[in-house]
Amino acid sequence: MKQTNFLILGGNGKTGRRVAERLNGRGDSSIRIGSRRGSPAFDWENSGTWPDVIKGMDAVYISFQPDLAIPSAVDTIQHFVSMAAAAGVSKMVLLSGRGEKEAQRCEQIVQDTAASWTIVRASWFNQNFNEGIFLEPVLAGQVALPRADAPEPFVDADDIADVVVEALLDDKHDGQIYELTGPRLMTLRELVAEIGRATGREIQFHALSVEEYIEQLRAYQLSEEELWLVNYLFTEVLDGRNASVSTDIEKLLGRKAIDFVEYAERMAASGVWESK
Ligand SMILES: NC(=O)c1ccc[n+]([C@@H]2O[C@H](COP(=O)([O-])OP(=O)(O)OC[C@H]3O[C@@H](n4cnc5c(N)ncnc54)[C@H](OP(=O)(O)O)[C@@H]3O)[C@@H](O)[C@H]2O)c1
Repeated sequence: MKQTNFLILGGNGKTGRRVAERLNGRGDSSIRIGSRRGSPAFDWENSGTWPDVIKGMDAVYISFQPDLAIPSAVDTIQHFVSMAAAAGVSKMVLLSGRGEKEAQRCEQIVQDTAASWTIVRASWFNQNFNEGIFLEPVLAGQVALPRADAPEPFVDADDIADVVVEALLDDKHDGQIYELTGPRLMTLRELVAEIGRATGREIQFHALSVEEYIEQLRAYQLSEEELWLVNYLFTEVLDGRNASVSTDIEKLLGRKAIDFVEYAERMAASGVWESK
């Protein structure tokens, strides 16, 4: 049987690590992690690193950094996808952001270029609270965020990885666009309260305006591009356009999507939110 070689970009990140774990150890495939620390290394900001990483690969999971909505992503994705297709990578699974109109230009490039493709549009991840941007404030017991009461169907990275692996392994997902959400809408204020309940810790929540939040982040020396992205994500993506639940996870995996309450209880039990 021919072995399939999978390239997992962002393979140390929230979704890529889980995709790699699921594919690892299968007798019919091998995986390569795309990482700036890999050998060969992969860096989105240095296209000279791409050919060695792409060489010999049959399929790729593309999780882009920092976000497909940034203006420079179109050129970068066009360059990468063309190079990968020319090198014989026939299947591409792209992680995209749900409700991100700008990201759809990158989705279109993949659709126009890859021999076969699947697009996975995800809503905001639960794992932002234990592996991402919201972990530090939760640990500090003080979370200050804008759009406090905007409903969003937070999705679990384990569900995303399960869908991505299905899409990589089964041709029936070729040419499909999936929308991945959690099973219900919750606001940032409610999510933080849920973490407080699950951990038994007092976590204060302060509602900010987007402008106040950006000003706070400026003090952490974020680049103008990062600040633009934060503003975009909070003003556009959380403007109500995503305030609906998709059933794609249930249809694809034959089970319910992971609920934030279940995630919060599991994480609380792991000790990740115990203040240091
Ligand atoms: N977070 C959310 O709520 C959310 C929601 C919807 C969509 N998304 C999309 O998900 C994608 C991120 O996926 P993720 O959360 O699974 O990944 P992630 O956890 O944000 O990070 C993935 C990895 O990217 C690598 N990385 C950072 N800069 C890089 C660069 N210049 N070149 C190559 N690799 C780089 C880092 O690995 P190394 O240090 O090993 O290089 C990091 O471990 C983004 O496109 C985002 O727009 C996120």
